[in-house]
Amino acid sequence: MITQDQLKQQVAQAALDVILPQLQPESVLGVGTGSTVDRFIDLLGVHRDAFGAAVSSSERSTRRLQAAGIQVLDLNQVASLPFYVDGADEVDHQLNLIKGGGGALTREKIVASVADRFICIVDETKLVETLGRFPLPIEVIPLARESVAREMRQLGGRPELRAGFITDNGNQIIDVAGLAYGSQPAEFEALINNIPGVVTCGLFAISGAHLALVAGQAGIARLELQD
Ligand code: 5RP
Repeated sequence: MITQDQLKQQVAQAALDVILPQLQPESVLGVGTGSTVDRFIDLLGVHRDAFGAAVSSSERSTRRLQAAGIQVLDLNQVASLPFYVDGADEVDHQLNLIKGGGGALTREKIVASVADRFICIVDETKLVETLGRFPLPIEVIPLARESVAREMRQLGGRPELRAGFITDNGNQIIDVAGLAYGSQPAEFEALINNIPGVVTCGLFAISGAHLALVAGQAGIARLELQD
């Protein structure tokens, strides 16, 4: 039995194997946040001379990238990113995601939006038929915490403030259980993002991943949508 930690390590290696042959010395990589990405960063450090720099989605990943000897650029200094590599809390077979378990969802969504290709790295516990088991993280301006929570109850959700947590942007996170997106996660994403005071929600469905690498007991599965 391969442990979840070992699966995270394997999928981090699989992502490196995909991107490494495609990197140029001037390439800038987008890097996500979380325990799976931590392993990816550690592997990436060994190959830091194969690419130029990284753009990070969190203060946590920035510290780890720098400790690995990788230069971290501000996104404003960068016009394009060939790849963005990040984990997820849930992935469905259409490559829609729920993210934000680590609270970095807003910067993750911004950096992912600039990348040509979003490679999502997960172990098989994250793969679901329909999104919604994992409570939806929503980053909110603190002033709007209660008004957004009321809107979430109207949508059938059970909002809970992530106590004691402040995002890298100085905001708060509400985790909302019980939402049912059915076959319309992109519509939900737009609806929730449009509520005043919401910075962004952790649904990545309007724009999801391009490729998901899923580590399981039987090896690495590749999920990729055909154009
Ligand atoms: C952070 C995230 C992470 O990608 C997500 O929570 C998965 O983390 P892990 O790899 O630790 O399971 O969205 O905001």
